[in-house]
Amino acid sequence: MNFDETVKFIKEKVNTIPRIAIILGSGLGSLSDDIDNKICISYKDIPNFPISTVPGHKGELIFGTLDSIPIVAMNGRFHYYEGYSLEEVTYPIRIFKLLGVETIILTNAAGGINLNFSKGDLMIIEDQLSFFAESVLRGPNLSEFGERFIDMSDVYTKEYIEILKPIMKKITGKCLTGVYAYMKGPTYETPAEIRALRTLGADAVGMSTVPEAVVARHSGLKCVGITCITNMASGIINEKLSHEDVKETALKAETNFKQVIKEFIKKIN
Ligand code: HPA
Repeated sequence: MNFDETVKFIKEKVNTIPRIAIILGSGLGSLSDDIDNKICISYKDIPNFPISTVPGHKGELIFGTLDSIPIVAMNGRFHYYEGYSLEEVTYPIRIFKLLGVETIILTNAAGGINLNFSKGDLMIIEDQLSFFAESVLRGPNLSEFGERFIDMSDVYTKEYIEILKPIMKKITGKCLTGVYAYMKGPTYETPAEIRALRTLGADAVGMSTVPEAVVARHSGLKCVGITCITNMASGIINEKLSHEDVKETALKAETNFKQVIKEFIKKIN
């Protein structure tokens, strides 16, 4: 991976490097409309960057300001199920680290496993489960980013979770926190898999975020995760899962989601 070439390319295009990066999940791309002073760089133009293949995912880095706070947003992320290697999936996170970003906000859509959750809820990710996928850090350690063996007791920065809780309560009327379980996809889970995940302690399940969070942790980045529960997971209610429904629910939750992110970055800036 030629990180230096990518960093040099971006630095030639962007003067102010933000401290906060936001990864926009399924259906949450409209946050990009609220960014001012935009510099948009299409993934296909960035040396060594993978290119997004999922319909509805755009594929650009947007540098700019959100309510006057400098940020960079990833409009469209890379998923393992698309065929990318885990190194490719997490390439942007390492680039953010090298650019000087300090905090990564990971957003996603997921299925609700916790029976107290409802479609459209937002959940703060407190911790994650990743039993069924290989580690993104497998292979020679990239010691310029971090150490071989990584403490995982604080993947999602506790101080930031505490900052998020009252914001979530104020904006959505609820303050849901939970464990996000990572499945590789692209199939949604079977009802038996969801029962198993519930037994293991999962509150939500999705196909992203965990590789990025692990790399963020390895690189010493602060990390925040917010999930939109776009559906109840397989077998919980008598309803078939479809990507269309997932996107539709994510869109409905978007106003709250954007507000939560804006208030959060104001607080930590
Ligand atoms: N399972 C996995 N990924 C998802 C789901 C789900 O139910 N909903 C949205 N992304």
